[in-house]
Amino acid sequence: MRISVAIDGPAAAGKSTIAKRIASDLGYVYIDTGAMYRCFTWYCLEKGLNCEDEKACSAVIPEVSIDLKPDGTVLCNGTDVTRAIREPRINANVSYIATYKDIRLAMVDLQRKLAANSSVIMDGRDIGTYVLPKAEVKIYQVASVEVRAMRRYKENMEKGIACTYEDIVEDVKKRDRIDSGRAFAPLKPAEDSIEVDTSDMTIEEVVAKITGIINNKIKELSK
Ligand code: DC
Repeated sequence: MRISVAIDGPAAAGKSTIAKRIASDLGYVYIDTGAMYRCFTWYCLEKGLNCEDEKACSAVIPEVSIDLKPDGTVLCNGTDVTRAIREPRINANVSYIATYKDIRLAMVDLQRKLAANSSVIMDGRDIGTYVLPKAEVKIYQVASVEVRAMRRYKENMEKGIACTYEDIVEDVKKRDRIDSGRAFAPLKPAEDSIEVDTSDMTIEEVVAKITGIINNKIKELSK
């Protein structure tokens, strides 16, 4: 049975870690939609554009080609940007890019194409509400700001990305504000989503919980 799983939630809630694990366990295609907005932001910064300038950034849509490889590699016009798109300068600008309607429409078009032919698990902000409104399973994954910031801080330390915990708390709060407050396809739970608060859960526990929700849905649909 071909199914789509949407995992939405605020920045650094651990969505991609969980989605990658479940995709690999169940043999689904994992689609990291945040990586697409990050890629677009990287391109704008490379061109020297001001990411707060909607018109200038939207004008380069035809120049940007994004490719997500099954091994997690992200290519922007053929350049490997997998690591570059996780840098603080991208975090600081990506929420602006993600508010621009024309850029969102281009990304959503690509996301829907990628989801058309296989079972997918897609993570983002608007997957259950806008990109895949008919997804069979919709999860809204949350965690407190402090827990999210600490997880991202540790991740950055492991990857050798310089930052302070305090800066990350501010960045997470700022992105929550912009992602939830934008006019077009803002971050919010879909009405038919199931909330999973991971603040006090381990990765294993979250994977088990969401896998259980997916398996129950598959059983229900096979009846
Ligand atoms: O999940 P992430 O941190 O990689 O996402 C980066 C930014 O992209 C985030 O601030 C909000 C935006 N985004 C979005 O608006 N819609 C999505 N479907 C995915 C990400």
